[in-house]
Amino acid sequence: MIELKSARDREHMRKAGRVVAEVLQILKQSAEIGMTTRELDVIAEREIRSRQAIPVFKGYHGYPASVCVSVNHEVVHGIPGNRKLRQHDLVSLDLGATVEGFVGDAALSFFLDGAPDDDSARLLEVTEESLYHGIRASVVGGHLGDISHAVQSYVEAHGFSVVRDFVGHGIGRQMHEDPQVPNYGTPGRGVLLRSGLALAIEPMVNMGNFDVDVLDDGWTVVTRDGSLSAHFEHTIFLDENGPEILTAIDC
Ligand code: MF3
Ligand code: CO
Repeated sequence: MIELKSARDREHMRKAGRVVAEVLQILKQSAEIGMTTRELDVIAEREIRSRQAIPVFKGYHGYPASVCVSVNHEVVHGIPGNRKLRQHDLVSLDLGATVEGFVGDAALSFFLDGAPDDDSARLLEVTEESLYHGIRASVVGGHLGDISHAVQSYVEAHGFSVVRDFVGHGIGRQMHEDPQVPNYGTPGRGVLLRSGLALAIEPMVNMGNFDVDVLDDGWTVVTRDGSLSAHFEHTIFLDENGPEILTAIDC
């Protein structure tokens, strides 16, 4: 069942989205060579709570941290730990926060101290741009498949692949609501996009094949072929005026 949000709900979601955007920027700026991924989690939890928000990932189906830190061939859901960040690592940060009962969810990726080569730099650019293609396709009167197709076609035109096994989602009082938002699909198919729909669109893009595995920790998703993977995500809200990005950086 897809729950459409009211104008009041939207105000709460804007606040949650702003917290997520701010904390992600702080984490990106804090990341340094030699730092452990656990140190990023400590900052994430402190910065979320200092904004009167709740880290929604922590305890979600037993997930033990406030942020996901996925490095290089890790796709999503990397658990912060003793791993030290190295020069040219591709770091993906995924963060969610609840404010006034509503959730914001976003992710970004970056190379620590620059990309190791041009192909890797390209993967990052194409993944981020594919998210904006998906957002631009998110218009009232269109269909969910328009979003999925916009992401997939842009990614594949650049020779990369979209992960199939994990998808974006509706969002609101819960982090994961209907509908699922795959990063692959057919234009004109799927549910009708209506005013009041809130979605988390989150392309996960691999340099090689789209196949992934989950590690023995039960969480960390990695590319099967060991190739690099990038991830960007925004929470958006649809009305007749178009998509509003609730997790955009405006500072
Ligand atoms: N952005 C991810 C998602 O939408 C984050 C979930 S991580 C979890 O699925 F640990 F909370 F599950
Ligand atoms: Co999400």
